[in-house]
Amino acid sequence: MKSKYFFFIKRFLYYFYGEKFYKRLSYNWSNYPSRFQIIQKIIDFKKYNSYLEIGCDQNKNFSNITINKKIGVDPNSGGTHRMTSDSFFEKSKSKFDIIFIDGLHTYEQVKKDIENSLNALNPKGIILIHDCLPKKIWNQIVPRLYGHWNGDVWKALVEFRTYKDLDTYTCVADHGIGIIIKRPNRSILETKIKNFKKLKFKDYFTNHEKFMNLVQSENLIEIIR
Ligand SMILES: C[S@@+](CC[C@H](N)C(=O)[O-])C[C@H]1O[C@@H](n2cnc3c(N)ncnc32)[C@H](O)[C@@H]1O
Repeated sequence: MKSKYFFFIKRFLYYFYGEKFYKRLSYNWSNYPSRFQIIQKIIDFKKYNSYLEIGCDQNKNFSNITINKKIGVDPNSGGTHRMTSDSFFEKSKSKFDIIFIDGLHTYEQVKKDIENSLNALNPKGIILIHDCLPKKIWNQIVPRLYGHWNGDVWKALVEFRTYKDLDTYTCVADHGIGIIIKRPNRSILETKIKNFKKLKFKDYFTNHEKFMNLVQSENLIEIIR
């Protein structure tokens, strides 16, 4: 009851102070493959041996992944290591073939998680990032307002799309799965944007295909080959 009350207050305040853009993307995620189907497909195709998941919660994804070495990091629940991603990367010397980032869904933390993951990645490894395609403004508000929370993870992906030594995509599946591969960028995003945090949901709604470099799951293997 109390949380419902706070939700209405927060939403009311947002109508006054937040961005006013209420169009939505129409993805129905139940018609697309799940995150664990996508992750397992990559593991099997690449014959990967080691997996790191940042943010495990109830292990809904973690428990579905089959691989030799599996580490899960979460300060609250699930996985194998009870700590934040920052603490884990500070202490760990391990390298991984595939890293799935699904922890704190803010631009700043995801950017940090990607940078740390790049250092912890084996040379032919792949980084995946969950929640890159919010459908509506309410899903991307930071801090979380209600319902499914993508946060502003997408802004970090847009920034990585501008780097020439990293090849970045977003697979259209399960709320959007970002893909980062260490190789020359095959379609660099040319932009004058300097401060990616300041991007608006309207910018994303209008440009998301180009910003996020969308790839359909059927074409995933072509991209990661
Ligand atoms: C969306 S849930 C993860 C869901 C899970 N990956 C899955 O697919 O079922 C996000 C999780 O991130 C964790 N988290 C929050 N801040 C974190 C941080 N700084 N480092 C690692 N995990 C964090 C939360 O405790 C929460 O369990």
